[in-house]
Amino acid sequence: MARPRLCFSLAIVATDLLALADDIFERYSPYPGDGLRHHCLRLHAFVDLLLEAESNPFPRDLAYLLAMVHDLGLVARFEVGANYMMRSAALFARETQKLELSQATREQCQKILTENHRFFARRGQGDPVVEAFRRAVWIEHSRGFRRYGLASAAIRAVFAKFPRDNFDRVLVDFARRTLTREPLTLVRGIFF
Ligand SMILES: [Fe+2]
Repeated sequence: MARPRLCFSLAIVATDLLALADDIFERYSPYPGDGLRHHCLRLHAFVDLLLEAESNPFPRDLAYLLAMVHDLGLVARFEVGANYMMRSAALFARETQKLELSQATREQCQKILTENHRFFARRGQGDPVVEAFRRAVWIEHSRGFRRYGLASAAIRAVFAKFPRDNFDRVLVDFARRTLTREPLTLVRGIFF
C-alpha cells in the first residue's frame, strides 16, 4: 500500500471547488486503485439525488468537496480531532480557509462532516443537507437496500457508474485504523 504523502497546502488558492476537491483527495488518499475515490463519487451522486428530490439548492460543487474529504480524517496524520470525522472536518476547515464561505456555511459543513456516519439522525438535527449526507452514507453502505424514497434504478445506475474496485480492501484498512486508534468512535461517532 502506498505511503501517504505530506499534506500541507498553504500556498493553494483555489476558486474551483471541484479542482480543489480532486487536489485534496490526490494529496491525502494513500490508496491505489479507485475504491475510495468511487466511494466518494457515489456518495456525492446519492447526495445529489436526495437533494434533487427535495429541490434543495445546496451548491453541488460544495457537496462534491465535502464528499471527497469526508473520510480523509482516517488517513490524515497531522490533523487534530477526537475521532476521524472531526479530523475530516479539521482538514476541510484548514484547506478551505482562503475560500469565501460564510460562517453559517462553514458550520453547516462541519455538521455534515461530523454527522454523516451516524446510524440515527441526532435529535433536533433539522438541516436537510446534513440529513442528505447521512442518508447517502447508508444508501452506500447498505448497497442500495436503503433508498430513502429514491428509485432503485437510479441507485443501481450510480453503483454501475462508479464500481467498487478495491473498496473492500480500503474498508479493511479503515477498520484496522479505527479499531487500533479510536475504537470508541464506533460507539460515540457512528451509532449514537
Ligand atoms: Fe465514507
